[in-house]
Amino acid sequence: MNNKIYQIIKSKNKKKLVCLTAYSKPIAKILDKLCDIVLVGDSLATAMYGMKNTHSVTLDTMIQHGVSVASSIKSAVCVVDMPAKSYKNVAIGKKNAKLIFKKTKCDAVKVECNGKNYDVISAIVKSGIPVMGHIGFTPQYYKKFKAQGLEEKDKIKLIEQAKKNEKAGVFSIVLECVSTSVAREITKLIKIPTIGIGASGYCDGQILVTDDMLGLSGFYPKFVKKFVNLNKIIEKGVQKYRNAVINNKFPTDKNTF
Ligand code: KIV
Repeated sequence: MNNKIYQIIKSKNKKKLVCLTAYSKPIAKILDKLCDIVLVGDSLATAMYGMKNTHSVTLDTMIQHGVSVASSIKSAVCVVDMPAKSYKNVAIGKKNAKLIFKKTKCDAVKVECNGKNYDVISAIVKSGIPVMGHIGFTPQYYKKFKAQGLEEKDKIKLIEQAKKNEKAGVFSIVLECVSTSVAREITKLIKIPTIGIGASGYCDGQILVTDDMLGLSGFYPKFVKKFVNLNKIIEKGVQKYRNAVINNKFPTDKNTF
C-alpha cells in the first residue's frame, strides 16, 4: 500500500484530516501545502461547468482535471472521483478505475455507494487501486437534496453501508449530509477515517467544495461555511482594471515594450 494512504488510515483518533476539492493546477498547488487529501470531485460539473447536477460529467473530463491536479500534488493524497455510470459493474468499474489511475497518476479513486456496489468497490481495491468510499447524500444517485439518517431505518442502513464499505477495503469514507448521531456512531464503529461534509464534528476529518468555502460558487447550503468572500475580492480587482482601462491608466510605460 502507498505510504500516503497508510498514513491516512493510521491518523484515525490521532489528528483531524483536512480535505478539500481541486479542479485545477493553481488551486491544487495551494491545497497541497495545507491539506491531507485533495479530491478532484465530480462536483466540478456544477461548480465549474454550470451543469444542474453531477449526473452527466464524463470520464474524459474527470481524467483531464485529474491530470492537472495530480501533477501539482506532492505531499497530499490525491483522489479522483469516478463519475456516474463509470462503475456500473465489476468489469467496467475496474477498467475505468485503472484508466483514471494510470492516466492521472492519482493516489486513489472515490466511488459513491448505492447500497449494492460493494463487489465493484472490492474488485477495484483488489486490483491495487485504493478506494475512498462515499455514503449518505450521494449526488450521483439523487435528484433532490435530502439530509440522511434522520429516521431510524435510515440510521441502520447507513451504519450497515459504512461497515460494508470498510469490509470491501476502502481506506476512508465520506459521510455526506448524515445526521450527527449516525456520523458519531459510524466514526466509533469503523477503523478507517470518516470524512464529513455536513456530517458533524465527530467525523475524523472534514471536506468541503473549495469553490463554496471560498465564496466563489454562490452555493451556500447550511453545511457550508464561507471562510472568505473571493467573489467580492475578484469583483474589486476587475473594477480597478476596468477603471484603469477606461481612464487610460493601463497599460503604462511599465507594461509596454
Ligand atoms: O464531488 C465532490 O466534490 C464530492 C465532495 C463534496 C465529497 O464528492
